[in-house]
Amino acid sequence: MKHFLDLSDWSSQELHHLIQLAAHLKFEWKSGGNKPVLGGKTLGMIFQKPSLRTRVSFDVGMQHLGGHSIMLGPSEIGLGKRESIADVARVLSSMVQGIMARVFEHQHVLELAKWSSVPVINGLSDDRHPCQAMADMLTIYEHFGHTEGLQLAYIGDGNNVAASLALICANFGVDFTIASPEGYELPDATVELAQQAGAITIRRLRDPLEAVQGANILYTDTWVSMGQEEESAERVQAFKKYQIDTELVASASPDAVVMHDLPAYRGKEITDEVADGPQSVIFQQAENRLHAQKAILVHLMS
Ligand code: CP
Ligand code: NVA
Repeated sequence: MKHFLDLSDWSSQELHHLIQLAAHLKFEWKSGGNKPVLGGKTLGMIFQKPSLRTRVSFDVGMQHLGGHSIMLGPSEIGLGKRESIADVARVLSSMVQGIMARVFEHQHVLELAKWSSVPVINGLSDDRHPCQAMADMLTIYEHFGHTEGLQLAYIGDGNNVAASLALICANFGVDFTIASPEGYELPDATVELAQQAGAITIRRLRDPLEAVQGANILYTDTWVSMGQEEESAERVQAFKKYQIDTELVASASPDAVVMHDLPAYRGKEITDEVADGPQSVIFQQAENRLHAQKAILVHLMS
C-alpha cells in the first residue's frame, strides 16, 4: 500500500503519471464529469491547521469521483492529545478508505501512515506540502506545454512549500533557484534529496534580483507560516526585501509567470499589482489543486 507523504517517496515516472492523470481528470471534468471510480468510498480529513484550498479540493474532489469525505477539525479528535496518533490511525482506517491529514510536525503524518491500514495523504506538514507541488507542476505544464529546461525562482522562506516545490522541480527538469534571507534558507537535506531526484541546477542565493534573472516562473509564499505566528514581527523584518513586486517581475524573463500557493499576504510577499497582474497564474494554480488532488485520490484509493 502506498502513501503520499513526501515527493521523495515517489519516482519521476510515477509523478509524471500523476500529472498526466490530473490533466486527464481535469479535461474529463470539464467535458461533462468524472467517472465515479471512488463510488462508496470515504476520505477522512484530519485538520490541525486552517485550510481553504486543501479542504475544499479534497472534499469536492471526492464528490466528483463518486465518493465523499468527513472533516475532522482540531477540536474533534485532538490528534495525539485526546487519543494517540496510533489509535486514531487504527480506528479511522477501519472505517474509511483513505486519510488526508494536515499536521504541524511532519513526524505526525509519518506516524499516522505507520499505523493506518489505508493510504495516508500529507495535506501539509511543517516540512512538506506535496499536494500543492503537484498542482503547481500541473499549472506549469499547462502554461508552457513542457517543463524540461524551465527556470523557477522562489523568493522567500525555505519552508514546506519551497521544499516540495524543489522536489517536484527536480523530477520535471525545472532548474530551481531560491533567494532567502540568512537563517531562512532551504535546508541542506532537502537540496540533497532534490539533487538525487533529478539532474537540475539548484542554487541558494541571498539576492532576489539575482535569483530572477532569466527565470520563467517566479514563486513566493507567506513569510509567516501557520504555527509561526509568534515569530511574525522578526520574520516581517527579515523578509522585507523579499517581495515580488512589478520591478522584480520586470527583471525576470519576459514570458515569466508568477505563482503563489495562497493564502497571499498582499503587500508583504507579493503586491496586489503583481498578484492581480497579467503574468499572475495564482487562481489557475489554486483551481488546479482540485484536479491534482483527484489524481492522487484515484491513484491511491481506486
Ligand atoms: N495552498 C493551500 O494549501 O491553501 P489552504 O491552506 O487554504 O489549504
Ligand atoms: N507555508 C504556508 C503554506 C500555507 C498553504 C504554511 O505552512 O502556513
